[in-house]
Amino acid sequence: MASTGHHTRFDAYGDRYATRTKGMNASEIRALFAVASRPEVVSLAGGMPSISGLPLDALAGSVHRLVATHGASALQYGSGQGDPVLRAQICTVMALVGIDADPEDVVVTVGSQQGLDLVTRIFCDPGDVVVCEAPSYVGALGVFRAYECEVVHAELDDGGLVPAALDQALRAAAARGARVKLVYTVPTYHNPAGVTLSEQRRTEVLDVCAAHDVLLVEDDPYGLLGFSGEPVRAIRAAAQSGAADRVVYLGSFSKTFAPGLRVGWVLAPHAVREKLVLAQESATLCPPSFSQRVVSTYVAEHDWLGQVKAFRELYRERRDALLDALAEHLPQIVPGVRWTRPDGGFYVWLTLPEGLDAQAMLPRAVTNRVAYVPGTAFYADGSGRRCMRLSYCHPTPARIREGVRRLADVVAAEVDLHETFGTGRARGRTTTGGYDAPPADQS
Ligand SMILES: Cc1ncc(COP(=O)(O)O)c(C=O)c1O
Repeated sequence: MASTGHHTRFDAYGDRYATRTKGMNASEIRALFAVASRPEVVSLAGGMPSISGLPLDALAGSVHRLVATHGASALQYGSGQGDPVLRAQICTVMALVGIDADPEDVVVTVGSQQGLDLVTRIFCDPGDVVVCEAPSYVGALGVFRAYECEVVHAELDDGGLVPAALDQALRAAAARGARVKLVYTVPTYHNPAGVTLSEQRRTEVLDVCAAHDVLLVEDDPYGLLGFSGEPVRAIRAAAQSGAADRVVYLGSFSKTFAPGLRVGWVLAPHAVREKLVLAQESATLCPPSFSQRVVSTYVAEHDWLGQVKAFRELYRERRDALLDALAEHLPQIVPGVRWTRPDGGFYVWLTLPEGLDAQAMLPRAVTNRVAYVPGTAFYADGSGRRCMRLSYCHPTPARIREGVRRLADVVAAEVDLHETFGTGRARGRTTTGGYDAPPADQS
């Protein structure tokens, strides 16, 4: 069915599309955008960075000078690998998370989303397996579906991807003769779970990948947005002592500058980098010259790191508002509810007790003028019904508190409904397990 604005109609082209389009469905997030963006709705759904924190006047000055003095080259086609000046700057950005990289091994992409697309394009045939965390970034699942990959989930807990679960997933895939091409992970300030892979697990995950001879794709758009201490060292940095060729690292300026510029990158082993450039050339000829020059000029002319620090502070305040409001309103309504406590990034992952269904509850939440993303969006296998992703990046702290009040009302009504008509299990049942298993004690 195709949407035609006011109504949906039968798609007359339905029998002509390539098989790979079968996996292409509008994400739950996209479907939500229309309602969630109404001003009366508090949206805890989207992952939009807070652009209003950017010094737009200063940026306008840089863009003006760029066009006036270098317009002829900035508006021309560029290299398929990306602007060499920007690639060198990207290496200094990656050094902040401990990565020692050569600009020659960097490919600039149209956001890290295109990095994901190109990496999957060059490695995955239909039916190949990609192991992802449970839950995993919805945009990555969309790419893997588009290339007709089979996604296998491996457990994630409060310490990030569980190495033993990864090992088990890889063993099980090997035992049935499946070809595992990639392990995909967001180790730092996970989207959607908000958790961070511990340092010890970073080496363990690398060891598991080495034992199974599989490539690790490290997606790190939030790495510089930590709320305490030094930036967490990337897995790619831990891999430098011998396993660097095992890791393909994805980075982005979307969360630390502006997503509308669509500038991201891939750092890849040399041979992979060459294939990526060929794939990039066939996809776009070259990444957008103008966007690259805007980023490069801004980073060179302004205190970009100071700006990142300001973003960190803004998001920390919002994270605190969300965590405080959840603690104030939810446990007395549903004692078995639990949620993660992110130390950076944009997201909190909330798990309701058994018997409650975040997906079924969503229309009632939107009617009550609050939106979230139901957990099912982040699983390839339909799991996650009791879970939801709450984003604190965009609304102000006051709106976040109001949103949680509204959410608590919806959950309370849902619990009442269950106690009247359902199994009565929603209140306070506690068991242990992963994020989609029945919840452990609230901590
Ligand atoms: C984990 C993750 N990877 C990739 C992306 C895509 O980012 P970009 O804007 O760089 O394409 C996002 C955006 O939300 C994300 O959360």
